[in-house]
Amino acid sequence: MGLLIIALAAFQFLGMVCHAMGVVGIDYGTESMKVSLVKPGQPFDVVLSRDSKRKISSAVAWKVQERMFGTDAVNLATRYPGDTFMGAKFLLGRASDDEQAKSRQQRLLGTKLTPTRLRNGTTVSLQRETDYTINKEGADTYSVEEVVGMQLGHAKMLAEEQAGEEVMRTYPGNIGSYGGLDVVITVPIFFTTAERQSILDAANIAGMRPKLVSDGAAVAVNYAMSRTFPKPEKHLFFDSGAGSTTATLVQFSTKTVQADSILSIGNTQKEAVVVEVIASGWDRDANGLALDLLIRDALADQFESKHGSKLSKPIREQPRSMARLLKESNRVKHILSANTEANSAVEGLAEEIDFRGKLSREELESLVHKAGLKEKFSQPLRDVLKESGLSMKDISSVVLVGGMTRVPLVQAALQAAGVPDEKIAQNVNADEAAVMGAAFYGASFNPQFRMKSIKAYDGNPFPVVIRDASSKDEVIFPKGSFEKLTHFKEYVGATSDFTVDLAYSASISADQLDKTLQKELYTMEISEIDSYLNALKEKGEIDMVETTVNVTLESKILGIYQVESAWLNVKQKHTGVVGALKSFFNVGANAVLDDDQEDDDSAANEKEASVEGNEPDKTDNSSAKPKKEKSKKSIPTERSIKLVGRVVPRGSVHPLSNAELKESRDRLYVADSEARSRATREEARNVLEAYVYRVRDLVEEEWFKKASRDEERKSIESKTKELSSWLSSAEGDKAVTSTLKLRKGTLEGLVEPVEKRVAEQRIRGKAIRSFEKSQKEAREFLQEARANLTVAIDSNLASKYTVSELDSFQTQLDKDRKWFDEKMASQEKRKLDEDVVIKSEEIEKRAKKSSDTVTRYKKRRIPKTRPAKKEKESPKPAAQEEEQPQKEKNSEESSHPPPRHEEL
Ligand SMILES: *[C@@H]1O[C@H](CO)[C@@H](O)[C@H](O)[C@H]1NC(C)=O
Ligand SMILES: *[C@@H]1O[C@H](CO)[C@@H](O)[C@H](O)[C@H]1NC(C)=O
Ligand SMILES: *[C@@H]1O[C@H](CO)[C@@H](O)[C@H](O)[C@H]1NC(C)=O
Ligand SMILES: *[C@@H]1O[C@H](CO)[C@@H](O)[C@H](O)[C@H]1NC(C)=O
Repeated sequence: MGLLIIALAAFQFLGMVCHAMGVVGIDYGTESMKVSLVKPGQPFDVVLSRDSKRKISSAVAWKVQERMFGTDAVNLATRYPGDTFMGAKFLLGRASDDEQAKSRQQRLLGTKLTPTRLRNGTTVSLQRETDYTINKEGADTYSVEEVVGMQLGHAKMLAEEQAGEEVMRTYPGNIGSYGGLDVVITVPIFFTTAERQSILDAANIAGMRPKLVSDGAAVAVNYAMSRTFPKPEKHLFFDSGAGSTTATLVQFSTKTVQADSILSIGNTQKEAVVVEVIASGWDRDANGLALDLLIRDALADQFESKHGSKLSKPIREQPRSMARLLKESNRVKHILSANTEANSAVEGLAEEIDFRGKLSREELESLVHKAGLKEKFSQPLRDVLKESGLSMKDISSVVLVGGMTRVPLVQAALQAAGVPDEKIAQNVNADEAAVMGAAFYGASFNPQFRMKSIKAYDGNPFPVVIRDASSKDEVIFPKGSFEKLTHFKEYVGATSDFTVDLAYSASISADQLDKTLQKELYTMEISEIDSYLNALKEKGEIDMVETTVNVTLESKILGIYQVESAWLNVKQKHTGVVGALKSFFNVGANAVLDDDQEDDDSAANEKEASVEGNEPDKTDNSSAKPKKEKSKKSIPTERSIKLVGRVVPRGSVHPLSNAELKESRDRLYVADSEARSRATREEARNVLEAYVYRVRDLVEEEWFKKASRDEERKSIESKTKELSSWLSSAEGDKAVTSTLKLRKGTLEGLVEPVEKRVAEQRIRGKAIRSFEKSQKEAREFLQEARANLTVAIDSNLASKYTVSELDSFQTQLDKDRKWFDEKMASQEKRKLDEDVVIKSEEIEKRAKKSSDTVTRYKKRRIPKTRPAKKEKESPKPAAQEEEQPQKEKNSEESSHPPPRHEEL
């Protein structure tokens, strides 16, 4: 926690420029996810789940039609294992027949996997076990992107609730991620392009504008937030979690870097902590869920050997029982972290037979050893040291991250790999390091946040090469730190459209790609060269020019590649522009003049220029119009043309098309709005239930009895009975929100009149007092006003009031008095259990009206004395009331506005 507070101090915000909600970090784990929010004016913290937890299970489940997330979803697994999806992260970017991914995810709950209808069939869909559609059209299937997208959407909703603002609802029909929520999602560093593309698609579906950062880099950024590095230091982050084990070697240093913040105008250099991921090692099988599965199988064996003969079918064929055992295994695993033995008991595990079992830490470790997993937990460390060429003594500390690092066998693996205890960093709260680092990393791209300067270079474990048949592979994005996000490549002499392949380097081992992930990434296509050069080729003049194609490739989202730009550069070889060349250059779009040639050939150029007007005005896609003055002087001898360059994804690197994104978004939108209407229905139901309970107690209250008659209470009681049984009936169970509200109204109609009587009784005294007070005040006022008026009339002076005004006010006061006296007399005769004759509200209203009238009259100013004779000498009375008409007045009376006190 101390760490967080220091980070906060380093983190400020400039309110004036930003309307954005901020940045959300999501650490999307295999078993659970964490969400954090950076927002101006709010503490930088983790976003809590609906049940106020700091992490949310990465699961989606359905109970018939109702969709659930987090703990609710995990709890459903034991009842609806076939409708609960967990471990979807294992399936991202994987083909439907990928055995590696399947065995990790499918073995958890036996989820049915099918080839997806999206992403050109390259990834997998998860199918619900049960068909709940009305027409039995077949059980719902969701692509892995949709399943993950729903969870990210849930995270988005929680972040928006915490932020107190909604960023953008993905209405059906929205395409593109503009206006989406700025999110940084952590991914394992070993995620390949296909896997990264898949989680990006999921985030897009959820209405986000995502960036990716590796888990290790995010943790390292968080580490740097509260520390300084006067000298470079290397730290190793060992992360063992539910889904994999990773070791990331990071160098921290302080350097002067180019400031990219808008705040640094005029001062482009600044000191920053530079975080560089320099090497990584990992193992996908060394994960916590694999241990859960080992334990589950051991417990299943124990149960089978004791009770197998009594079972109608083996426990392994009973999904609910296996799901309960899986949950139990997770518990046993945690017990064995702190104890050498764990007892296990599951009541009525299968066919009403209780399970009682036991597992020792030793047994677990031997299972892990037999499964070949033991070595796998230490392999990442060995790999990272080998790759970096460093040894433990070069490393300042080893920071442990992830729940599995608390498991003794994983700690033993660290020792086996040569990590001495004293190198292990103590007191580093690493559980939330990735999610906090991710949001901080995201905010560092937003110049509107002013924060501690940290520049992070993520790591690239997979060197990417350009492959073309004629030459050997050229590495364009090397292994190591992702310091350069663009690569510039020149093709000298290219005169035709061409394609080359982008692929992972052949040096990457099959194990590094999980045996099944593909090395082919994209085919890069550079086109339109043909269409520009054809004329020259046809005329046989192509040899008179030198051509160069320059292509800039970029990895804007780490690990995903695209062509940033492609240009064709054509330059004449010899002086003198003739023939087809002349028209080619004279189109002269982005003309660049060679200085030497301009001098040498100025005469020739001028001559050529004179025929410019005769040249047909060819339209082309060149980037700029020629400059008039320049082309008058000379015909350019060099021309640059922007080409069309793109990468065509191969196989599972394929992203979702816009139409597919839209379809998935619409699907999620419908699911979300169904969930919302279900929630309002639940709410209405709860309100009705609570009301029925309250009314049941109410009729027993003494005050209620006093204020109600027997027959009223009888009908209230029978109504509550009717509603209780209706609520538990099939009809009540299905009732929609409006029906629930109507039903509540039928009971309210009976209860409220009684409640009103009691309320009236309580407040009547006060109303009577204010009525009497207002009457008294008004009558005193009238008396005084009449006296003043008489004096004014006698001495022929202006007065504030007219006779008729005061008369009509008097009349009203008398009317009010009469009304009040009569009503009160009959109210007195009423019993407590009868409705009232006179409402306090009405009494208060009349009292207020009369005192308002008094106030208004008192505020009036006296008009200037205006003897009739002198009227013409003062054409504009200075102190007239605003609302006084500006015309000539004939009499004293008409010079005042009409009384405002309305007659009743
Ligand atoms: C989808 O895959 C098929 C077969 O591999 C291929 O012919 C087609 O071009 C792909 N579609 C797209 C949009 O890439
Ligand atoms: C080139 O320009 C033409 C006409 O303006 C247009 O139809 C075509 O789409 C453009 N091509 C590119 C690649 O922009
Ligand atoms: C590629 O060519 C264009 C046009 O000549 C030029 O503007 C650009 O700077 C070149 N790119 C690089 C990286 O040299
Ligand atoms: C009556 O006249 C007196 C003296 O000018 C003044 O103070 C008082 O406010 C007047 N009263 C009313 C009700 O106009």
